[in-house]
Amino acid sequence: VIEVPDHYYRRLYEVETRHWWYRGIERISLALIAGARPSESAVLDAGCGTGGFLRFLIDERQPARACGIDLSLEAIELARRRVPEAELEVASVTKLPFPAGSFDLVVCNDVLQHLSDSDIAEALAELRRVVGEQGTLLVRTNAARKATRANDEWRLFDRAALATALEQAGFRCLRLTHANLLGSLAGRRRRAPRPPGHESLGLPSLASGPRSWLGSGLMAIEARYLRKPGRSLPYGHTLLAVAEPAAKAEARR
Ligand SMILES: C[S@@+](CC[C@H](N)C(=O)[O-])C[C@H]1O[C@@H](n2cnc3c(N)ncnc32)[C@H](O)[C@@H]1O
Repeated sequence: VIEVPDHYYRRLYEVETRHWWYRGIERISLALIAGARPSESAVLDAGCGTGGFLRFLIDERQPARACGIDLSLEAIELARRRVPEAELEVASVTKLPFPAGSFDLVVCNDVLQHLSDSDIAEALAELRRVVGEQGTLLVRTNAARKATRANDEWRLFDRAALATALEQAGFRCLRLTHANLLGSLAGRRRRAPRPPGHESLGLPSLASGPRSWLGSGLMAIEARYLRKPGRSLPYGHTLLAVAEPAAKAEARR
């Protein structure tokens, strides 16, 4: 059972296709996974919420199979509207209803920060199990300069905390970067990552006009910059990691 305010998923459904931050983070995610296997593949969005990222991934990469799970029935019902062609079900990221090695690409966006430490370890072990030996994992979390745990249901990651958790689960990080550098610097007091119980629900509010153009323009520049392997951004309220099974990384050396 997850405790979120009543209108959380309806609000997420509304902002995820209209807010510049989602447009920007989708572009950045795509830049980071540019080298991962393309169209013929099977993808899973673990903790897919109301389906915005799956919609984007299907439109951009036309995977042969697209699956999503979320712990919330309400989220899955909204996701079914947004991505009717996907296989969607209610499940926990700590107990994924798929055989080992089912997916070429697994994404897990802004879920890990909502889990207890033991659930984070279980979730990453499950993600490792369902990613094929030649597969790729994309993880997005909130970020701070220094990792902290506010309570059992919410924490902030830093680069070292995310990289260590991934390595302990049998992944190797190929990319690890912050995102939305200038936007995060500009809003570092007002818009630092917040737990969902906060009045903002931890979701951005819809902006229009210059702020929206500026925000999406800056994130488009970041996406172009990050397309090149080896590049990363040193600051931002969001962290993204691209990881692969350790054995795959070893074999490439
Ligand atoms: C901040 S939202 C992110 C949703 C979506 N991935 C996105 O990027 O918009 C966190 C999501 O994680 C889901 N969630 C929380 N705990 C989970 C668990 N144990 N298993 C699966 N989903 C979970 C919530 O229901 C919610 O949809």
